[in-house]
Amino acid sequence: MSKLENREEFENVNRDLLDFIDRSPNAFFACSNMRTELLNAGFSELHEGEKWGLENGGSYFVTRNDSAIIAFRIPKTEFKGFNIMASHCDSPTFKIKTNAEIEVDKEYVKLNVEKYGGMICAPWLDRPLSVAGRVLVRTGNGVETRLVNIDRDLVIIPNLCIHMNREVNDGYKFNAQVDMLPLFGDSDSKDKFLNIVAEEAGVSADDIIDTDLFLYNRMKGTVVGVNGEYISSGRLDDLQCAFASLRGIINSQPKDSVAVHCVYDNEEVGSGTKQGAASTFLKDTLHRINSALGRSEEDYHIALTSSFMVSADNAHAVHPNHSDKSDPTNRSYMNKGIVIKYSANQKYTTDAVSGAIFREICDAADVPYQTFTNRSDMLGGSTLGNISNSQVALNTVDIGLPQLAMHSPYETAGAKDTAYLINAAGKLFASTITGVGNGNYKIEF
Ligand code: CO
Repeated sequence: MSKLENREEFENVNRDLLDFIDRSPNAFFACSNMRTELLNAGFSELHEGEKWGLENGGSYFVTRNDSAIIAFRIPKTEFKGFNIMASHCDSPTFKIKTNAEIEVDKEYVKLNVEKYGGMICAPWLDRPLSVAGRVLVRTGNGVETRLVNIDRDLVIIPNLCIHMNREVNDGYKFNAQVDMLPLFGDSDSKDKFLNIVAEEAGVSADDIIDTDLFLYNRMKGTVVGVNGEYISSGRLDDLQCAFASLRGIINSQPKDSVAVHCVYDNEEVGSGTKQGAASTFLKDTLHRINSALGRSEEDYHIALTSSFMVSADNAHAVHPNHSDKSDPTNRSYMNKGIVIKYSANQKYTTDAVSGAIFREICDAADVPYQTFTNRSDMLGGSTLGNISNSQVALNTVDIGLPQLAMHSPYETAGAKDTAYLINAAGKLFASTITGVGNGNYKIEF
């Protein structure tokens, strides 16, 4: 049984998590909120375009594209390796296209959107939505990025009534160009969309050069279940893991390895961007940590053999109405701990070595864990561990927190599991793991 059985502690963690998600309608805001928390915790901000003066015992962070972030703590003594937890801060949604307004019958204005990632479409319908993202604005001294969040119920994607769509309950194929366009307003709302965005950005519409704007669900996160067992919210995949990793690095001090909290963008669209897991962001950052501390290229490669990565992206709990969809012997349930994901085709990077290391970390943190594999006749999803490994090859385990309704705009997870991952992340960041490269490793806590 875990030491973590204090109800108040779980409730505090959930309140903070749901508040963090509520303030993070997309990757730009998640990144900005993590930045603020890190500054408040005493981390210093670095910029990729400036020289890095790093010191042993220091805590730093760097962002890329304002939508991916890497924070790290350097031990007081010469470091042995890197202990990394990687997650992602983007979630499936709809991106507002340029020239967004479409008029219908001179009575309605709707917005032209396209899919970002693989979402479940149906739950996006018939609920208040709004728009958030970044705009590039012309200012007195050049061009500036500003984050905007239209913080009110702004648009809605209405269903077609059942009388005009009798087969809707027999399986319906959503056409993104037809079914998923949100209603913005009546004829008076024509040409107003960019004005509303500009107002929020504090400029006039003429000064907006370009935008990255996305829809988000306005429904706030909440605690559900007769005993408050579950939490329901948008974007639990993967802000739940990103938040736990953030809290883990803030709460812990490194031992002999550099603790690295890494949150990528664009996992939901294949990770292939400059701020995604397939980019050089992590590799560049680890290299620069090494060289800024006066170490050689060879020292860097030696350090990688005593390094470990936890790829943390949410996992599938057994579904109460579809329990047959899960593997017969590796079934994960909410509130039963961190899920270690296995897959023979290595879509999940876990192998016997990385699985063993992670089990030891959980045991040391006194938190429960469980295992997941897909049914052998079912193709699973993919995540960021193996993609990140193509840039920086590290012994890696794929884990996640068990949840239902992944990629719905309102997902459900366990009320205890976030706290479990915060503790395991803290243990990872405070450990020294040597000899990983040859499978004969040693962990010191
Ligand atoms: Co995910």
